Amino acid sequence: MTGVRNEAVRGGEVRSMSVSELPEPRGLPLVGHVPALARGGVIHRVLHEWCDQHGPTFRIRLGTQTVVVTASPEIIGTVLRERPEKYRRGQAMGRLIAELGAAGLFDAEGDDWRALRKIAMKGLNAGYLRESFGVISRSTGRLREQWSAAAAAGEVVPVLDDLMRYTLEMTVGMTMDHDLDAVRRRGEDGPHRHLPQVLTTLGQRLNSPVPYWRWVRLPGDRRADAAVEEFSALIRDRYVRAKELIAGGKRPGTFLESLAEAERDGGDVTEERVVSAVLNMIIAGEDNIAATTAWAMHYLATHPEVQRLVREEAAEVLGEDAHPADPFVVARLKYAEAVVNETIRLRPTAPYLLLEAMTDTVLADSTMELSVARGTHVMPLLGYRSDSDAQKYPNPGEFDPGRWLAEPAEQAEGAPSFLPFGAGPRFCPGRNLALLEATVFVSMACHNFVIEADTSGGPVGEKLTFVVLPTNLSVRLRSVR
Ligand code: HEM
Repeated sequence: MTGVRNEAVRGGEVRSMSVSELPEPRGLPLVGHVPALARGGVIHRVLHEWCDQHGPTFRIRLGTQTVVVTASPEIIGTVLRERPEKYRRGQAMGRLIAELGAAGLFDAEGDDWRALRKIAMKGLNAGYLRESFGVISRSTGRLREQWSAAAAAGEVVPVLDDLMRYTLEMTVGMTMDHDLDAVRRRGEDGPHRHLPQVLTTLGQRLNSPVPYWRWVRLPGDRRADAAVEEFSALIRDRYVRAKELIAGGKRPGTFLESLAEAERDGGDVTEERVVSAVLNMIIAGEDNIAATTAWAMHYLATHPEVQRLVREEAAEVLGEDAHPADPFVVARLKYAEAVVNETIRLRPTAPYLLLEAMTDTVLADSTMELSVARGTHVMPLLGYRSDSDAQKYPNPGEFDPGRWLAEPAEQAEGAPSFLPFGAGPRFCPGRNLALLEATVFVSMACHNFVIEADTSGGPVGEKLTFVVLPTNLSVRLRSVR
């Protein structure tokens, strides 16, 4: 946070401003800040730098569109809370998702969103997570077997690739009760190989300055279309089964079954909507959880002492079991959970949101009252300074899971918010599932293996597609059980 801002806070001065009076980093005519943001593929890093230089709230131009970027905790809190009435997600994103045939909860608005949100929350509640734990166990067991074989063969493990299949298998299992068997099918062809193309294409389109795909389909676009088609057929097939089960009196146990129940009860549910809503849920969840577990592997590989502590905890809690047997056991894996929280602090995979004001409104914090016209885009930064705020996190750059087990430090007034799962009525409905899956994974990995970094392919980097993914992340494993 800049000295200028702190001065204003101390003086109690509140400025009334319009968007045109906000500071703006140097941009180019016509394209605005698009080239600067595209630099190095890590948009959020550039935004954080601009925050350091210009203060917590500034404006940028994306082509003809002006966007208010903000790390102000008060403004972020208001904007996230006042949904869906006053702010909606940026329509460009919704349009891109719909074009791929995957419209659903993430991009729905108004009553449509309310109805889907209710169904989704039912499908992801704690009781359901307990009942569906078998899916997590099955996939985790398969990953352990595969990694044991890799360890025995002395192979380098392509972490992100393996974890993409692992988390996709779990997400599909939990969402629609289908076993993709993706973990064991590493080199094989199948839907598990095709679906990630949808996310890749979405990420590329999201960051593309020109919507070329509306005129010409490149090979990647055609592969994405084919993958959606293939997956849609699978969802339709599973939906027939889900409806039979619900008609037979079963309580919904998946998102798909919750949709079947809603259709039975006269809700506005068509097969087309079901297909796209399930795809949407998988897209919203899958890459985030794959990236988070992959980043956790990166930190474990580079912090042997943390591995040792997770291993000691796992030995005590899991004993002879290779991985946690039920969610009550997971609840006792406090240090593994702290590893997950610390990973998310240093590597939040969804670093910002793009929203749009639906009415003329005022964004206020202790320094300013900013008049914002209907249609203005607002970009809340969800993780600004989560890796550098020494007041909130002593030695902030250090990977120190132990900090999550200690008493939380007093939060300074105006300190940046850290909201890796968003907040308000649209906060991430998959948060508990994500934390559960990642904790199970971290504990299993250290309980069974010593993890060593392998940088023969170059140093680990990061890139932003739909989420922030690690690049060049490989490890070698040594079995310890
Ligand atoms: C570490 C993993 C994850 C992270 C960091 C993450 C992060 C986020 C964030 C930042 C949002 C936007 C929240 C907002 O607008 O306030 C979101 C929304 C969403 N997430 Fe997640 N997510 C994760 C895992 C999952 C999983 C596993 C699922 C489902 C299986 C999921 C499903 C969704 C959906 C459907 C939405 C849209 C909710 C709405 O608009 O009402 N996420 N997530």
